Amino acid sequence: MRSDLNQSNSSKKFGKVAVLLGGKSGEREVSLKSGAAVLAALKREGVDAHAFDPAEQPLHELEGFDRAFNALHGRYGEDGTIQGALELMGIPYTGSGVMASSVGMDKWRTKLLWRVLNIKTPDFEMVNAQSDFASIEQKLGLPLFVKPANEGSSIGITKVKQRGGLEGAWILAAKADPLVIAEKFVGGGEYTVGILEDKKSGLRALPIIRIVPKNEFYDYEAKYLRNDTEYLCPCGLSAEKELQIQQEALQAFRAVGCRGWGRVDFLMDEAGNHYFLEVNTSPGMTDHSLVPMAAKAAGISFDALVIKILDFTLGNQDLESKNVG
Ligand SMILES: Nc1ncnc2c1ncn2[C@@H]1O[C@H](COP(=O)(O)OP(=O)(O)O)[C@@H](O)[C@H]1O
Ligand SMILES: [Mg+2]
Repeated sequence: MRSDLNQSNSSKKFGKVAVLLGGKSGEREVSLKSGAAVLAALKREGVDAHAFDPAEQPLHELEGFDRAFNALHGRYGEDGTIQGALELMGIPYTGSGVMASSVGMDKWRTKLLWRVLNIKTPDFEMVNAQSDFASIEQKLGLPLFVKPANEGSSIGITKVKQRGGLEGAWILAAKADPLVIAEKFVGGGEYTVGILEDKKSGLRALPIIRIVPKNEFYDYEAKYLRNDTEYLCPCGLSAEKELQIQQEALQAFRAVGCRGWGRVDFLMDEAGNHYFLEVNTSPGMTDHSLVPMAAKAAGISFDALVIKILDFTLGNQDLESKNVG
């Protein structure tokens, strides 16, 4: 427990804080867990924090809050919509602003942006009802990954291993989002870079974590239900390579206009080339989630991490435009 003095300092500094959690995306359950962990940490730190579930309460009830800690994941929480509402209400919030949240949620547009900036990302094709499925399979090779552009937690994702499998995978992905992409398989290892922004020192990449799922890929089960997924930190890359990729991850994060904190995921091929997969603007925040794990490796406790994220809150979008390149 913190001293009473600290508790009242924290309440004074941050005021009344809403922890946004739950929501109505496919990642509701995960967000309830993230939000509960954040809320508990803020309370331990003496912050006047309260849970707020936008799926259960009208948004106007946020009036009177001084700040929002966004622990929502997925649609309506990570995609710029809640950020827009908070902007209009004049409530500063954690993480990225409207535009970056919106672009970051859309894997197709994120990859288009990275491609023009020469930030390496696996080859991809958009898939729709008019697609020539056989020629996409041919072009990207097998296996390949099919995924909804606007979803998370591996929902609607299929690893297509056999010819003729793309169409069924597209139908499944399109149930989550009409915008579907097929992506070239990259099979030499999966990693993530946590990112934290500090008002004084700017963006900082946390130690890289290697993820070793025990099933076919890092699917919903491996993420949340199984306890045999391995997380390696240190990640096993040379110090030089790790530093280089951390710098590139910051570039990939900035390219999308992201602020505050987040995660950039990448894959390694068998030859040791890395490819950025996606950016997460509101990553998991349970005490066994990836950003908290990376923060711990950098000597930042879960509670300290939560306070750092809250400390860097955006109140206006013009900050976004200052974060180019
Ligand atoms: N191109 C790919 N090559 C290899 N594995 C992939 C590829 N795309 C996705 N995966 C696997 O699927 C998981 C989820 O994909 P991702 O694009 O990160 O979507 P989500 O937003 O649902 O996390 C990844 O963590 C990885 O295990
Ligand atoms: Mg992912």
